Amino acid sequence: AGLLAPSDLFGARGNSKGFDLTDAETLAQIEAARDVAIPDAAPLTVTPATGETVAVRNPVNGETVGHVTQADAASVSAAIEQARPWDAPPSERAAILRRAADLYEENFGVIFATLAREAGKSLPDAVGELREAVDFLHYYAAQGEALTAAPRGIITAISPWNFPLAIFSGQIAAALMAGNAVLAKPAEQTSLIAAIGVRLLHQAGVPASALQLLPGDGGTVGAALTSDARINGVVFTGSTETAKLIQRAMADHLDPGAPLIAETGGLNAMIVDSTALPEQAVRDIVASAFQSAGQRCSALRCLYVQEDVAPHLIEMIKGAMDELRVGDPWQLSTDVGPVIDDEAQSGIAEYLKTNANRLIHQVNVPASGHFIAPSLLRVDGIADLEREIFGPVLHVATFRGADLDRVIAAINAKGYGLTFGLHTRIDTRVQEVSDAIKVGNAYVNRNQIGAVVGSQPFGGEGLSGTGPKAGGPNYVPRFCLDAQVTTPE
Ligand code: NAD
Ligand code: ALA
Repeated sequence: AGLLAPSDLFGARGNSKGFDLTDAETLAQIEAARDVAIPDAAPLTVTPATGETVAVRNPVNGETVGHVTQADAASVSAAIEQARPWDAPPSERAAILRRAADLYEENFGVIFATLAREAGKSLPDAVGELREAVDFLHYYAAQGEALTAAPRGIITAISPWNFPLAIFSGQIAAALMAGNAVLAKPAEQTSLIAAIGVRLLHQAGVPASALQLLPGDGGTVGAALTSDARINGVVFTGSTETAKLIQRAMADHLDPGAPLIAETGGLNAMIVDSTALPEQAVRDIVASAFQSAGQRCSALRCLYVQEDVAPHLIEMIKGAMDELRVGDPWQLSTDVGPVIDDEAQSGIAEYLKTNANRLIHQVNVPASGHFIAPSLLRVDGIADLEREIFGPVLHVATFRGADLDRVIAAINAKGYGLTFGLHTRIDTRVQEVSDAIKVGNAYVNRNQIGAVVGSQPFGGEGLSGTGPKAGGPNYVPRFCLDAQVTTPE
């Protein structure tokens, strides 16, 4: 764990204060939250809603963390009926979002505890997540403050479990700042943290009719919220498969002008050539592939190493993998926590079993709990990857210097386009490769995860998303009817 300093992106106040995990007092305050009671979740709607109640399990030990009452079809319809665009002036909306950001920070104890116990987030990841959520609230408040364009009406916001506070809050904040009413459906696995976020937004002053929470199953609640003609737009982050389902539902049921803002998966590559600094490359490879147990859409999935340096670099990667500590997310020494649930664990384990002949290195993990051993698999190239494996699994291929163009063509041919990494000391190569690679976020001589709100707008192209980029200047305007979008990203 290192020092997590606040970002300095938005001038005097527009960023989170950050948490210094080397400071004893901060650590004592966080430790006090270890066993804090986590409130149960339920639909937070204008009129009371009912539905089935399900238990939430800790991905480390299966213990019950809390309970979620899910919305049913009738509550979804009633919530749509009760939704009202937020007609307060933009300056008032911005002030309320900033107040919410302060409340998020004040409530860091229960937020960290919930991120760890419900989503299996390691403490540094939980700190980064809270900081990103707060950054989104401030950034979109600032972006929307001067807006004069009209809202679209009612926006459905559907989010994934892997950034259950940051992405969840970012979607909501942008849609609200544009003056819309929001119906938020969190991922099934992470409704508890979503309910904490919505309660704090309400406490800050967002009206109940402008923001309602509808926890529940994607196939029922999510589908109902994307196939009702009263919905004026959808913002979605999750898998490419689900985005396609939503796109079809919207085409069949919504006004053709209703936008889908989708941020989806990736098959992200990194190229390391023979001029790269090995120590720096290895540090960035290991962080990109294994931080957050590989459960980031931005994570590195396929590494290409130039063949003359490959044997040495791969040995160094194996050594660095052996240093990873896999285990309890609440331990500060933990580098890699669990994967989210049974289904994720068994799916990744099955993939590793099927590809056992490719395995070149694997790390030891605790015998019980939803852990997956960080694994390194040899492949001929990215064409061997059939789908996004959402866990700590890195594929490595080698390439000859003369084949660099073919490597880039193979990466582009997969059709995704989220993140990409390049390690090289050749300046002209940086420009050539950046021009040729088709991705939303390309990083040079650093890791390829953790885009910073406001300074690295985040989003992909092709199968990875429809744009505009989250945390960038074109995002809030997309939630308006007639805002001009002219800023390049
Ligand atoms: P998912 O697609 O399974 O679920 C995402 C959300 O969609 C959930 O809330 C789910 O309930 C809902 N959903 C499922 N079926 C639906 C339907 N038919 N109609 C409407 N909603 C439905 O994804 P996940 O497993 O929660 O998240 C992991 C995926 O998200 C990975 O593919 C990852 O790459 C992607 N992701 C992308 C980004 C990005 O910014 N590009 C960020 C984080 C995660
Ligand atoms: N925005 C997140 C990242 O860059 C997904 O890792």
